[in-house]
Amino acid sequence: MLSESVDGLNIRPGGIYVDVTFGGGGHSEEILKRLKGGRLIAFDQDEDVQANRIDDERLILLNNNFRYLKNFLKYHQALPVDGIIADLGVSSHQFDVAERGFSTRFDAGLDMRMNKKQNFSAAVILNEYKAQQLAAIFRQYGELANAALLANKIVAYREQKQILTTADLKEAVSSLIDRRNEEKFLARVFQALRIETNSELDALKEFLMQSLMVLKVSGRLVVISYHSLEDRLVKNFMRAGNFDGDIEKDFFGNVSTPFELINRKPITPGEKEILENKRARSAKLRIAEKVQ
Ligand SMILES: C[S@@+](CC[C@H](N)C(=O)[O-])C[C@H]1O[C@@H](n2cnc3c(N)ncnc32)[C@H](O)[C@@H]1O
Repeated sequence: MLSESVDGLNIRPGGIYVDVTFGGGGHSEEILKRLKGGRLIAFDQDEDVQANRIDDERLILLNNNFRYLKNFLKYHQALPVDGIIADLGVSSHQFDVAERGFSTRFDAGLDMRMNKKQNFSAAVILNEYKAQQLAAIFRQYGELANAALLANKIVAYREQKQILTTADLKEAVSSLIDRRNEEKFLARVFQALRIETNSELDALKEFLMQSLMVLKVSGRLVVISYHSLEDRLVKNFMRAGNFDGDIEKDFFGNVSTPFELINRKPITPGEKEILENKRARSAKLRIAEKVQ
């Protein structure tokens, strides 16, 4: 969906664009190809992305969280902007490096921090959160039905031994794993821990609110999300300008929404892309244009 998402920005060659999730630089590279002059400000909270930096004087790559979008754009005198793209979640680079702790495939430390300067990691959550707090994140962020049981297993295990590696975690919850659904179950446990470690949903909400403040009228917001919790926030925000999705009416009953949806239904990848990249199977692309 690389070209569909960049098409969604409707690029004006001399405009100012923002890629808030630089990662491997694929979207940024495509945007730069379509700019003549213009500027691109990119964000990524993972300092490892500096290895993928693109040598182009139109690009500024910031190692910061996109929850600070507005302040950094102001600092770089880049306000207002013509378009913003966000390709949320974890990059394949982060998944594929065992010691980052994002993948269920490796035995590695339970890190899961996107920003390596942060002290708080998944291991801290597993060893220090109370059972109720653990249950809440597994329920909310992993959408796991047996969240309380899972939390109790973790608490019982850590009374004997700290949970420091992915292997420790798998052992702690092994009695709850149904071998037929093992991969899906562990993916949800890891998703919940990752979202909590990086405050992903709070950062996304702050980013979405600020996107509206920094975009020009007719500017585009393009977001690719990878799970329903993210997608719900994006969908509601684009539809209604808030996270509940309640569309407000004025005194006369006129609907007032800040965006016009460019695609009513999310765009999803084709079979070929899913075959090439398994992670793409859950991707949803939404595009909206600021109208007021
Ligand atoms: C799916 S990858 C992006 C891939 C990129 N579009 C490309 O073409 O290579 C997501 C990236 O967003 C970064 N990221 C996720 N949440 C972030 C946040 N709140 N602030 C800044 N960067 C974030 C991650 O570190 C990761 O590198």
